[in-house]
Amino acid sequence: MRSGKHRPPGPRRLPLLGNMIQIAKANPFFSHLAFHKLSEKFGGLMRLKVGFQDVVVVSDFKIMQDMLAKDVFSGRHFEGYMKERSFKKDLGIIFTSGEMWNVLRKFTVKNLRDYGFGRKQTMENTISGEVKQFLTYLKSSLANSNNNSLRVERLFHLSLLNVLWSMVGGKTFSHDDPQLLRLLKINEDLMKTGNFGANLAFAFPLLAVYLPSYTGIADQRKFNGTFQEYIREIFAEHRRNGKFASQPSSFIDACLTEIEKNAHNPSSYMQEEQLLITIIDLFQVGSETTGNTLSYAILFMVLYPQVQQNVFEEINSAFPGDSLPTYEDRTLLPYTEATILETLRLGNVVPLPPPRKAMSSCSYAGYFFPKETIVTMNFYSALMDEKYWEDPYNFRPERFLDSSPNFLDKRKRVEQVFGFGKRICVGEDLAKMSLFLYFSACIKNFDFKRDISEPTPSMVPLPGFILSPQSFTALVSSRQ
Ligand code: HEM
Repeated sequence: MRSGKHRPPGPRRLPLLGNMIQIAKANPFFSHLAFHKLSEKFGGLMRLKVGFQDVVVVSDFKIMQDMLAKDVFSGRHFEGYMKERSFKKDLGIIFTSGEMWNVLRKFTVKNLRDYGFGRKQTMENTISGEVKQFLTYLKSSLANSNNNSLRVERLFHLSLLNVLWSMVGGKTFSHDDPQLLRLLKINEDLMKTGNFGANLAFAFPLLAVYLPSYTGIADQRKFNGTFQEYIREIFAEHRRNGKFASQPSSFIDACLTEIEKNAHNPSSYMQEEQLLITIIDLFQVGSETTGNTLSYAILFMVLYPQVQQNVFEEINSAFPGDSLPTYEDRTLLPYTEATILETLRLGNVVPLPPPRKAMSSCSYAGYFFPKETIVTMNFYSALMDEKYWEDPYNFRPERFLDSSPNFLDKRKRVEQVFGFGKRICVGEDLAKMSLFLYFSACIKNFDFKRDISEPTPSMVPLPGFILSPQSFTALVSSRQ
């Protein structure tokens, strides 16, 4: 019988360094790989000391599903250098906790809905419109390239941002809009600061203060400043227009109305900086996550041409000629859906979501969790567990289907890459719909082949807060 204060097991700790040496030995580049390896010895609920931080890592899927859905674990860890992105305050959705998070999240979801976000038909119309533009853009890019070779790792991001921005900001951008391309580049660079330096800054918060350049914090500061400036300018533009209250046309207009309403109520959460960070939250994760997943989908199609052929044949026989499947039609395309699930599993762009924290002291599975305990779920372990997945390193959509073909239970595990409980991803429906509509339209219209003049593209990701494939090209030809 465990005592009331028993803590989850973990490796022996050294003074000051905690388990940093064991973590670095397990994998010096990717924390999710290091945690996975250590969990094989210490179990699905493991306690590590990462420098000064005490962290509980959840690697067992069933525990994740149960534990992270509980309200007591619905807090988000938010300390140290991470606060730099929000004026050193608790602001926005991703990194707040408790009542403020609850109010902000509800306000955002409710008001975005007025502009189509989460409304099935309106959202699908918006995405499908943007998919059409994207196909035209691909065709013209091919016409301008001399050997049909296209760089893929950032191909989708601007188009996906357009989908989101038509609801958030009430406008879309051309595919060569220089300001937006610059911002997307800054976002890409910002995500890549989630590397070894950021891990050190997490482990030893003072390093962020004394070695900002080495830990990447100086770059983060610069990139975040650019974002804040950009959104402030958009606020100013909407204010100059003067119609945000009388004829609102976007989520930003709803925010401005709310800011004005609460101008003399400093205790309200609806202040300018708060909504500015909320919009940055949406901007920063909205296109990177889905964009990197779609780039992985094309990478897998290039590396597994037979899968690509199967997907094409399935779509083409159900939707011949110029027609394209709608989101509802996905039930007619099980192999295509299974390919997207397999992409989410093996591509897995958010293996370590932003850590949660215990909102109060509590017990779980016989272990004690003091208030503020940092809890990290490792999706990598859930999606690559060799005891659950046969040959997990292989890209094999068939693993999700029986011979009928009906979906096997395995699909549920992948569908939870969007998280658990009340804190589940705000953009889940948008992401799932976008993945299906962009992917099916691309494979129906284009053939993607390996560019043999370049080295075989690697499946190993670039490090970052959100993982992305390394730069690669594909030879693309139109099927029409
Ligand atoms: C393939 C695409 C995506 C994946 C894999 C993904 C994954 C995740 C995960 C794992 C979390 C943490 C959930 C938790 O703590 O339980 C999260 C949170 C979040 N995601 Fe996504 N996401 C994706 C796309 C999007 C999109 C398109 C948006 C834009 C609207 C978005 C907005 C958010 C926000 C705002 C949160 C914070 C929610 C909160 O803390 O309450 N995500 N996402």
